Amino acid sequence: MRTQVGIVGAGPAGLLLSHLLARAGIESVVLEARSRSYVEQRVRAGVLEHPTVELLREVGLAERLDREGLPHEGISLRFDGGDHRIDFADLVGRGITVYGQQEVVKDLIAARLADGGDLRFEVSDVTLDGIADAPVIGFTDAEGQRQELHCDVIAGCDGFHGISRGAFAHEVIDRQYPFAWLGILAKAAPTHHELVYANHDNGFALYSMRSPEVTRLYLQVPPDTDVNDWSDARTWDELGTRLAAEGFTLNEGPVLEKGVTGMRSFVAEPMRHGRLFLAGDAAHIVPPTGAKGMNLAIADVRVLAEALTGFLQRGDETGIDAYSDTCLRRVWRAEHFSWWMTSMLHKMPDADAFTRRLQLSQLRYTVSSRAAATSLAENYTGLPHGAVA
Ligand code: APR
Ligand code: PHB
Repeated sequence: MRTQVGIVGAGPAGLLLSHLLARAGIESVVLEARSRSYVEQRVRAGVLEHPTVELLREVGLAERLDREGLPHEGISLRFDGGDHRIDFADLVGRGITVYGQQEVVKDLIAARLADGGDLRFEVSDVTLDGIADAPVIGFTDAEGQRQELHCDVIAGCDGFHGISRGAFAHEVIDRQYPFAWLGILAKAAPTHHELVYANHDNGFALYSMRSPEVTRLYLQVPPDTDVNDWSDARTWDELGTRLAAEGFTLNEGPVLEKGVTGMRSFVAEPMRHGRLFLAGDAAHIVPPTGAKGMNLAIADVRVLAEALTGFLQRGDETGIDAYSDTCLRRVWRAEHFSWWMTSMLHKMPDADAFTRRLQLSQLRYTVSSRAAATSLAENYTGLPHGAVA
């Protein structure tokens, strides 16, 4: 088998890359370890930055997003018994859209299939060879047949646990946080129209949503937490405590999903070796506090699609040579923002009085200074693609 771009992984990065390449007239094959229904059901984050939404509109992927996505013009920071709204629309003239990552994935799969795209699910034993100059991807297909896919370049879009990153030597720069998030998805109508980030003496809590019927909620918990220690009743009780504010009520409802996610920052540098390009979670992880994971994956493949178009259609290597540095600028901006939000909002397990006072001062400054609030708003809603210095 032969194609121009062999893409490993059918998450937002791999699927969008395949779509962008097809629009430029470039062929690709997407190889995914899981089944189609698995990747379409996997619950992940749900905040789309403004530039992400603009891109999805520009490339014909926003029909359902524009119908069902929930546009938000701000968030609230809750601490020290008070609630403080950060008004994105007023501060930076743009907002975010709440739309689940798996909805983006469903839309991408539907668009690729409607366009005759070659997506192979349930492949196994993927190997990458010849990444210096003549790439070959080996894999076992869903029927158990061993296959070889020869390509001009490989895009490693196989997430944090994928195999692509391991195909070349790279530097890892990372940080582990001393806490995790317990997340629930509940069939309960949201009672508040925007997201709430709460810093409470018991720890961080986040109030989010997926639709007019479904609420998404998170609690900071110790990293080794067993999800079975958190009954629904205990979870609701703790959410009620940490999110409490005057006039705020929490609708409870059946819990559809419950899980614990670790928190880490991780960057692999560089993001390219020869003809292999990493994109999305395969190259970097951010803690979820800044809601940047999927948005970064999307920004990467926008740069990659353009770079590969130059290379494959005109033999121009400028874009592919700049790919890693260009992406890492935005990645590090998001790493900093996510680390900053995480540090400001969580209870640090052994924080002394000095650290706690600094944290409170940072929170008060962020909600009272227009300059500080604008910085949060600018980063949260997403710096324009191509504009990160
Ligand atoms: N072979 C084929 N596919 C693989 C392999 C492999 N060896 N290993 C992993 N995969 C698949 C996974 O099953 C997954 O569907 O690669 C895909 C990677 O997708 P994501 O993990 O969604 O990563 P990405 O597309 O970069 O999107 C980033 O995902 O983790 C979230 O918060 C993150 O929202 C961000 C987004
Ligand atoms: C979510 O809705 O899942 C969500 C929202 C905001 C975050 C993280 C996760 O910062």
